[in-house]
Amino acid sequence: MPLTLKSLRALSDATRLRIVALLEKQELSVHELQEITRMGQSRISTHLGLLQDSGLVRSRREGKRTFYGLDPEADGAAADFIRLGVRGAGELPEHSADQINLKRILNRRREQAQVYFNHVAGRFDRVYGPGRSWQGFGHLLLRMLPPVVVADLGSGEGLLSELLARRCRKVIAVDNSEKIVAFGAAKAKKNHLKNLEFRLGDLQDPPIEPASVDLAILSQALHHAEDPAKAVAAAHRLLRPGGQVLILDLLRHNFQKARELYGDRWLGFAESDLHRWLEEAGFRKIEISVVAREEEEPHFETILAGGQK
Ligand SMILES: C[S@@+](CC[C@H](N)C(=O)[O-])C[C@H]1O[C@@H](n2cnc3c(N)ncnc32)[C@H](O)[C@@H]1O
Repeated sequence: MPLTLKSLRALSDATRLRIVALLEKQELSVHELQEITRMGQSRISTHLGLLQDSGLVRSRREGKRTFYGLDPEADGAAADFIRLGVRGAGELPEHSADQINLKRILNRRREQAQVYFNHVAGRFDRVYGPGRSWQGFGHLLLRMLPPVVVADLGSGEGLLSELLARRCRKVIAVDNSEKIVAFGAAKAKKNHLKNLEFRLGDLQDPPIEPASVDLAILSQALHHAEDPAKAVAAAHRLLRPGGQVLILDLLRHNFQKARELYGDRWLGFAESDLHRWLEEAGFRKIEISVVAREEEEPHFETILAGGQK
């Protein structure tokens, strides 16, 4: 049967006109159409079948549910038929009740989404949320970084350096372990990160030209330095004027086993220690805060300190 005849036939029924009008602005499931029109499932399905056959209505699967809607790309004759159908539905006695019920169903949809968030309000950061991860947040924050040159001092194998290299102009990763440097460099090569360079060297005297980088990072590295104040002064030296230092470390703790378990030389630092070393090195705009506390014993706390050259 030609499409025009199919469309005319599809619109020659009051229920189908009602359905077209209901689908005019949003997709609905069979169940929602049932609730709005107070008709049985098989009746609704039969009418939807005819409307789909005419090409006026399309369906889309989302998980186990199917949503029906008008063809968003309908033009020419199809668009005319849709307009006709919507206008025709307005003449039916059920029209105003349909619109009221539609509004109710749409409100309920919105509320269902809110019910969950109201339920988790106040502990949202502690419940699982699909796709919410610190790794994701990290990538989001990275996008805010301008194309700077970074020194990652005490870089390890480059967990952070690799992330930074995807965004920054250049990353120089410095570590004093030959094995770690070789491993990190091989990994960077494998990941085609040409702007990430690993160098063997010490935190206290990194093999980096003075005044050549925009950002110096010491992530869980300073507590390994023999002389932390010297390492902070070295970071200052390699920064350009206006450059920033960021230090992530542990707040002073008493977990002696950290020396043997993690090779730590210092059991974290007091905020005042970091402040003093930053100031002595010549940094200004110093900011220091505790940014995280672990739930498990011994409840390590992470401190973030920063300053500007
Ligand atoms: C706990 S890891 C931190 C790695 C990385 N920054 C991170 O946050 O994932 C400490 C790293 O510092 C390196 N390290 C220790 N003492 C150092 C020193 N004096 N100079 C340079 N690197 C050092 C170690 O080899 C190790 O890779």
